[in-house]
This record gives sequence, structure tokens and C-alpha cells, in this order.
Amino acid sequence: MGLQAQDRQLSIIPQPLELEQKQGAYILHEKSIIQFDDSDAELTALAELFAQGLFERTGIRPQLASPRSVKTANTLTLQLTSDTLGDEGYRLTVSEDGITARAAKANGLFYAIQSIYQLLPIGESANKGVAIPAVEIMDKPRFGWRGLMLDVGRYFYSVDYIKKYIDYLAMHKMNVFHWHLVEDHGWRIEIKSYPKLTDVSAWRPSTNFQRGSYINHNPHGGYYSHEDVREVVAYAQSRYVTVVPEIELPGHVLSALVAYPELSCTGGPFEIPEQWAIQQDIYCAGNEQVFTFLESVLSEVVELFPSEIIHIGGDEAPKDRWKACPKCQQRIKDEGLKDEHELQSYFITRIEKFLNSKGKRIIGWDEILEGGLAPNAAVMSWRGIKGGIEAARMHHPVVMSPTTHMYFDYFQGEPYHEPNAIGGHLPLRKVYSYEPLPEELTPEEQQYIMGVQGNVWGEYIHSPDKCDYMTYPRGAALAEIAWSAMKHKDWEDFIRRLEDQYLRYEQVGINYAKSAYQVYFEVEDDVAGKKSAVTLKTDSYQPEIYYTVDGSEPSLDSPKYHGPFEVAEYTTVRAATFKDGKRVSPASVRSMVRFEKTE
Ligand code: ACM
Ligand code: ZN
Repeated sequence: MGLQAQDRQLSIIPQPLELEQKQGAYILHEKSIIQFDDSDAELTALAELFAQGLFERTGIRPQLASPRSVKTANTLTLQLTSDTLGDEGYRLTVSEDGITARAAKANGLFYAIQSIYQLLPIGESANKGVAIPAVEIMDKPRFGWRGLMLDVGRYFYSVDYIKKYIDYLAMHKMNVFHWHLVEDHGWRIEIKSYPKLTDVSAWRPSTNFQRGSYINHNPHGGYYSHEDVREVVAYAQSRYVTVVPEIELPGHVLSALVAYPELSCTGGPFEIPEQWAIQQDIYCAGNEQVFTFLESVLSEVVELFPSEIIHIGGDEAPKDRWKACPKCQQRIKDEGLKDEHELQSYFITRIEKFLNSKGKRIIGWDEILEGGLAPNAAVMSWRGIKGGIEAARMHHPVVMSPTTHMYFDYFQGEPYHEPNAIGGHLPLRKVYSYEPLPEELTPEEQQYIMGVQGNVWGEYIHSPDKCDYMTYPRGAALAEIAWSAMKHKDWEDFIRRLEDQYLRYEQVGINYAKSAYQVYFEVEDDVAGKKSAVTLKTDSYQPEIYYTVDGSEPSLDSPKYHGPFEVAEYTTVRAATFKDGKRVSPASVRSMVRFEKTE
């Protein structure tokens, strides 16, 4: 028998706004009933999802019942009430008598359910019922945009995996799935008016598979049909996730130009490049055909995606071709534009106008600020936070997604322990340290920061397993930044709760990274004294670190790390983390104290 439910330390991620643990527990058992207003189709679907979720986690599937037919008090109640906790907030009461979740909207009830899942014991037998500790929770998110972007342009992922990705997002109370559907290396969405986008643009013969120059000659490709997109969007809706499609323009579109070279400045011909690199060839801004094409593409896109916001890309569009193109130069003249940056602004503004006419708003990467921001555009700040600050000061909505803290394609541990990545270094602690509201902004300007997003670019992410690995647990740190109140920011407590979250990942099948267990070194050299002080750290909770200085592999028989220690010249320290007597990290290795004479 495990701990009594009331003695269990709670481990909800993201941390709720108010949480009070009470005496006792509710025992979920075979006769438990989920009670809700079954005249409401949305609540009915949610209750069914809840019953299934409880079954998958505990083996117990409660019956569904409307309030009219329920006689016992021993129920799990999902109730819509007028409330002051906003569209996504909820109140949750767990007591010996039952569980009650209340919210103004079903979104809030969905988040109450996610919290209930995180109150369940993990890995205990359900023979005698499942004890859910008594709590009182009042919760709502800090930010409205809590997003993750997945790049499916570099590698295609199946609809099944996309649904899992959405499930994982939703279990972290995130609510935006930014689907990066267009890249130089692959066009991934069916457009019925331009069939070559999927017959031609979705496929490539070879790929720069490894960092460096290794080319893999396995043909790769795939795309999502309208049917697929509808399935994904409906799936996401039932988990309160908005799917924001990204249709890149004017750059990152070589795949489209391979199929329709007449949309370029030079006329082509083109092929999909083997190397990952920014491509010079982009849509011609002086050619009316380009706008006809994009309006057809976007007309199909807006029909498929209920999201009010459509991402139009806008990043990394070199201006070389526009500078040399008579049509582009003619456009600059005709429109009285100053240069190619203003031509880009013309391009984006024209697309914005079209999408506004369809009832949509645009968001773009921060390059869309160059040459003048389109009047109603939102900005996704990725090259640091400067673009976000500039846009917020101009009273445009902003999503913060800087490479420094939000690029989950970067290494998350010691690079020599990690699978191939694009570069950079973004360990869990750094993600968690991020504060999305720039202090440079006034409180009034800060209102324009809609939220925060992690980006999973796919150049070196070839499989669902690796995609899980790169996304979690950094996605958990992101979720907490995006949802939890600033007063709850507490790294030690986060990594304590994360230990349970790892078990939940195993339960649902997320191939999360264990990089947080890796030891990293902080070394302070004392040159005069020819010695160094060595501090060993991890991104895990109360790590048990064992280390050696004699070249041997660390084991439970090695010295245990208790605090900073000194080493003299030419020492190689090897250190690894153990948990419950088992090694949970590879040995990190660092040679130090190389005080060579400089004169
Ligand atoms: C980007 O990373 N090119 C937005
Ligand atoms: Zn041109």
C-alpha cells in the first residue's frame, strides 16, 4: 500500500493559482458516476473524454449520468456556472463525498480534468479503488496564448502523431498548436486549386540528414489532405487547442516554386535543395499571378481552419532576387516604395487585407516589422525580444518566442551526451527562467503580450520519438511560464513536481528527455593557487551525484558529491546522477586546471 492520499505531495504542472490540500480523499471506484448536463453536446463529449481518460489511467471507467437521474452524492460533477475566472479558469473541489469541477466555459472544465489526472496516484493498483487527495483549487492561466510550434516541413509527421502532439500539449494546459506547414523542403497541405503543391512540392529525393554534410538519399515526403486537416482540427477543438496554420510567404517557399516556377522572379527551374539553408528564391512581389495564387491557397486554408489567426511566416526572405527583378522594381516604383523592405511590407499588407476580408487576422515572424508593420498584424518575436517590444509599443499583439529561451531544437544537455541538434544550448533551467513580459515595457504596453510559445524546428528531428524528446520536459517548463502566476515561480518545486510528471509521461508514452539528470560543471579557477573549485549541478530534484577523479566510471562506490570541492592540476572529473540506487545519467566528463605559463 502506498502513501495515504492526504500525505502525498501534490505535483500539478503547471502550478495552479490557489491550491489547498485537505484532509481525506475521494475514492474513485467502479460505481463512481460522472454527472453533467447531458442536453449539452459539448459537455457530453467532454464527459466521455473524461471517462476514457480515467479508464486509461486507473482502469476504472465511471458511468455517465445527467443530474436528473443521479441519486447518490458520490459523483464527479462537471458544471458550468457563471464565474469570474475567465474563459479558461476553473474551481475544483475534491472531498470524501465527491469531486466537483465548475467553470464558466467547458475550456475550464477541461483544465479541471487535467488537474484531476495529476492528482491520481501513479502506478498503484486500482483493486480497492483509487484515492484522489482532497483539495480545493482555484485556477486560471496567466497568458491566453500558450503555444507550441511543430515544423512538419522538414520532416512529415503522420496525423496519428499530430494528434498525440496535441494531446501532450493539452495535458499541459497549453492551447495553441502552431502547425508550420510550408517550407523550402516540403509543402504539407493539400490545395485543391494547385494540385502540383502536393504532387510535386511535398516530395524530395534526398536530405541533409546529419549535421555536417551527410546526405541521405531516401526519398521523403507527405502531406495532409483536407480530410486530414479537418480531423486534426476537430481533435484539437475537443481538447481546447486552437490550430494556427502557418502558410509561409514570401520566403521559405522553394518547394512551391519547384512546382510553379512562374511565381518566382527568375522563372526557375528549381529543385528542392539537399542542404538546410535560407534560400534566395522567393515569391516575386511584382507578379500579379503570385497574389492570385496566394489568395486561392489562403481561401482554402481559411475554410479549413476555424482559428481567427493565420500565421503568414514572413521570416528570412532575402531581397537579392527582388533587387534584380524588373517586375519587383516596377512595383516599387508604381507603389512609391522606398526599397525592398517596403516591398515586403507591401506584400504582407496586401495579404493581410485579403485575410481581414475573410474575417481573419495575421501573425508573422518579427521580420514583418521591417519596412513597416501591416496595420492589424500580430508579431511573433523570435530574434530575441526586440521585435516583440517594438510591436507592443505600437500596440500590436505579440507572442514571445525568442531563440534564447524558446527554441526546442537546441541542445538541452551536455552536447556530447545529446542526439544531433541544430546547435545552441537550451537546458531546462533556462527555459524555466524565461519571463515573457519584458521589463522595458510599461504595464499598459505589456497588455499586448498575448503569451509565449516554444518552437520545434525539424531539420534534425526525424522521428516522433525524437520530437517527443526535444519537446519534453522543456514543454512542461514552458507550460508553467505560460500558465502559472509569477508568485509561484519556484525552480526547486518545479523540478520536484517534474519527477511525477516523468512518470505520467511514461504512462502516456511520451519519449521525454532525461537530460535534466545530466551533471554539469561550474568551475572556478584559482590561477595563483593552481587549483579549481568544482561545483556539480543538475536540472533534477535533489540529485544524488557520485564522481571520480581517477579516470574510473562513477558508481555508488565512488565519492558522493556533497558540495563544491577543490581539484589540483590536470584533473578529469567524471560525475553521474543516481536515483533509488540506479544510475539515471551518463557520466559527464570535464578536464580542468590547465594553468599554463603564458610568458
Ligand atoms: C525562424 O526561426 N526562422 C522563425
Ligand atoms: Zn520579382
